[in-house]
Formats: sequence, structure tokens, C-alpha cells
Amino acid sequence: MSVPAAFDRGADSYDRLVGFNPGYHAQLRRSAGAIPFGARRVLDAGCGTGASTAAVLAAAPRARIVAVDASAGMLAEARRKHWPESVRFVHSRIEEADLAGEEPFDAVFAAYLVRNLPEPDAALAAFRELLRPGGVLVVHDYSLSGGLAARLTWHAVCWSVIIPLGRVVSGDAELYRYLWRSVTAFDGATAFAARLGRAGFGDVTARTMPGWQRGITHTFRARRPHERNWRSPCSCRPTGCGCPAGHRSPRS
Ligand SMILES: C[S@@+](CC[C@H](N)C(=O)[O-])C[C@H]1O[C@@H](n2cnc3c(N)ncnc32)[C@H](O)[C@@H]1O
Repeated sequence: MSVPAAFDRGADSYDRLVGFNPGYHAQLRRSAGAIPFGARRVLDAGCGTGASTAAVLAAAPRARIVAVDASAGMLAEARRKHWPESVRFVHSRIEEADLAGEEPFDAVFAAYLVRNLPEPDAALAAFRELLRPGGVLVVHDYSLSGGLAARLTWHAVCWSVIIPLGRVVSGDAELYRYLWRSVTAFDGATAFAARLGRAGFGDVTARTMPGWQRGITHTFRARRPHERNWRSPCSCRPTGCGCPAGHRSPRS
């Protein structure tokens, strides 16, 4: 089953489940606080039921927000809520979203998304292209720091709280076993910061959340450089790489 299909199945219980995590919304707001307050155009990539969209709205109240998600079920939950006209929801995989005609974004926010993508590097490169020079990418996600304590806490919280609760609330624990696996398998915080650098971002910072999520949940902030002649370090063929970022070859 694809990741968006799994979210379709869990969509009606998603908000109830994250409601059991008292810090969920506050932490999204904390990460969204890395978006410049005066941002005019923000992309919320993988907006889900709109929890991250609400955090973006609070951080950048004057922004026009494009909120994209591949799960029709999650988006239906988001659309049920009350939103100002400045918020527009789009049903699409982020890799295929038709955003080329959009003006460049001042910020892209991606909460609990990048780890779920089959080709995270291509998606990061695409985010960079969607940003105006100087625009910021903010990634909020579970990403374990190198320490053993964070790894043990993650295993313990997943198997004693998140997975059993997911089974009780949604009747199916697969999505929550997937959450455990995907975090364990994906980059730790240092590796993800390095990945952002390789994707052509500058000024990369990683900040962890307080409390039990210290060393587990991070806010990554990165900036699209201003350099005019910057080229992607991806392995494009001379005729162009065909990746979602639409890179041109360094030699073209
Ligand atoms: C864990 S939820 C997070 C939702 C929201 N950002 C939040 O913070 O509550 C991850 C979301 O990413 C979406 N997603 C996964 N793969 C995607 C893709 N390729 N393109 C767009 N959305 C995707 C899922 O459908 C799901 O709604």
C-alpha cells in the first residue's frame, strides 16, 4: 500500500490520535515560527488534515497558503475545518503538483512529510526551485539525534504508546508501525542537515524540541541561496536530468 493510501485509511481518526499528544500542535507552531512573519506566499507540503496549515497560518497570517496533500481522505478532513480565503488546498502528490505557474514561495513548510517520500532528494531540489532566492524551507519531523537515549526513547514510546493507541483509536496499527520503522530507517538529524546542504540549501540549522522529544523531533531551517549561477550538484545528464526540480545540466 502506498503511503498516501495508508493515510486515506487513517484519515478519520488522525486528528483524534494526534490529540492524545498534548504537544503536537504547539510543536508544529514552534517549527512554523521559523517561517518569516511577513511571508506572503507559503507552501504547506503534505498538509494532511490541516494541523500544519493552521500552524503556518498562525506564523504568517498575511500569507497566501497553498496546502498540498496526496491523500483525499486527509484533505477532506482539512477542508471540513474553517479557513480564511487565503488558504487553498490542492489534492496531488507533491512530486506531481502543478505549481510551476505559481509565483515563487517565500517559504515551504513540510511537516512529517520528507521521510515518507520515495525520492526525498528530488523533492528537496523541487522545493528549492519553488522558493524565491533567499526563501526558506522549514522541515519539521522525527529525526533521531546520534545519542542512544533518543533511539531508545523512540522505540519505547512507539511500542508502549503510539502503536497500541493507534490500534485502539483507528482499529489498524499498520500506519503507526510504519511511523516507527520509517523514523528508524531515515536520516538522523545530522545526516538530514547534510542532505539539505547537498540539495543546494544554505544556512542550514537543526533545532530539537524540548521534553521527551529532545533529540527526536527537530525543526530544520534552510535557505535557498541568492547566487545567480548556482547549479544543482545532482548527477544530471548533459541534456537535463528530468528530475522534478527540472534541473538543467551544469553543462547545458
Ligand atoms: C504524518 S502526515 C502529516 C500531516 C500534516 N503535515 C501534519 O503536520 O499534521 C503526512 C502527510 O503527508 C502526506 N503525503 C505522503 N506522501 C505524500 C506525497 N508524496 N505527496 C503529498 N503528500 C504526501 C500524507 O497523505 C499525509 O497526509
